Amino acid sequence: MSGQTPRILAIGAAVQDVFLSHSDEFKPVSEKSVHEQFMKLELGAKADVNNIDFSTGGGATNAAVTFARQGLHSMFMGTIGHDPAGAAVLTDLDNEGVDTTHVSYSQRYNTGYSVLLLAPSGERTILTYRGASTHYDAKFFDLTNVDVDWLYVSSMAGSMETLHAIFEQAKKKGIKIFFNPGKGELAHIGKLKALLEDVDVLSVNREEMQQIVEGEELEELGRHAMHYVPVAIVSDGPNGVLATDGKTIVRGGMYEDVRVIDRTGAGDAFGSGFLSEWAQEKSLKEAIVLASANSTSVVTKIGAKAGILHHHSKLHDMLLHEKEF
Ligand SMILES: Nc1ncnc2c1ncn2[C@@H]1O[C@H](COP(=O)(O)OP(=O)(O)OP(=O)(O)O)[C@@H](O)[C@H]1O
Ligand SMILES: [Mg+2]
Repeated sequence: MSGQTPRILAIGAAVQDVFLSHSDEFKPVSEKSVHEQFMKLELGAKADVNNIDFSTGGGATNAAVTFARQGLHSMFMGTIGHDPAGAAVLTDLDNEGVDTTHVSYSQRYNTGYSVLLLAPSGERTILTYRGASTHYDAKFFDLTNVDVDWLYVSSMAGSMETLHAIFEQAKKKGIKIFFNPGKGELAHIGKLKALLEDVDVLSVNREEMQQIVEGEELEELGRHAMHYVPVAIVSDGPNGVLATDGKTIVRGGMYEDVRVIDRTGAGDAFGSGFLSEWAQEKSLKEAIVLASANSTSVVTKIGAKAGILHHHSKLHDMLLHEKEF
C-alpha cells in the first residue's frame, strides 16, 4: 500500500446538528455552586435566538470528512432515515467528496438529530434524538464489496454484536481497524476488551482509557493498553496527548491555546487526523501533529466539521517528547 493513496471506510453515526446561539435566554444560571449550571427556559414563553447554524455530525461522518479533506479515498457506512436530516447528511458528504454508496436507510427510525443551545460562555445544552444512529442492523454492515485499507470505527451506540461482525469481516479481508469506542461500547467492557483483539489502533480520552485499563497518568495508561492493542492513543483535552506503538512513546502538549467556541467533534477530528497520517505510514509524531492541529481547529468553530483542516493547511510545530518504550 506504501505510496498509494489510502482507502478508508468510516463506520458509525450520522446526525444533523442544529446550533442555536446568541440568545439572552441562554445565560447560564447557577444553583448551589458554579458546577451546577442551568439554562432556564420559561414554560409557555418564546425565547428569541439570533443565530442558527445547520451542520451535520456523528463521529463517522466527521471522520470521513477529515479523510476526504486530507486527500484520501474516503467512504462512509452508516444508517440514516428517509427525512430532511438524512438528506442534509448526504448532501454534506457528497459536497466533501465522501463515497456514500454504503449508506443504509432505517425503515423505523428517523435520522439522529440534535438541537444544541449554546450559551455565551461556550457551554451548551443538547437536546438529542438518537434514532437511526442507535439502532444498527448487522445486515447493513456487509464488507463483501468494500475494498479499503482501513476501517475507522467510531461509536455504534453499544451494538456489540454488529461491531463483532464488522471486525470479523475486516480481519478476514486483511483490513486494519482504527477504533474510537464511545459510552455505549464502554458500558459493555468485557465485550469491548474481546473486540480489541482485532484492533490495530485504539484511540480514547483519558477517562475512557481508565475504564479499560488501570492507571492515572497518560503514560501509565498507554503502557497498559499495550496488553490489548499494538498502537494506543490517549487524549486529555487541552492537557495534551500520549501515543505509543510499543516501541516508542510520544507525549504531546497543547497544539495551540485557542478560544473554544464549540468543542463538538474534537475527539473525531483528533482520531481522524491521526489516522490520515498513520494510514500513509507517517510517524507517530507526524500523526499526533495533524490530530492535534485538526482537533484544535475544530473547537474554534461552531459545528463538528467546519474547522476540519485541508491537506494544504499549514501546520506548525508543537511540543513533543519521544522516548523508548
Ligand atoms: N480546550 C481545548 N483547547 C485546545 N484544544 C483542545 C481543547 N479541547 C480539546 N482539544 C483538542 O481536541 C483533542 C481531543 O480532545 P479530548 O481529549 O477532549 O477528546 P474527547 O474527550 O474524545 O472529545 P469528544 O468529546 O469530542 O469525544 C485534544 O487532544 C486537543 O488537541
Ligand atoms: Mg471521544
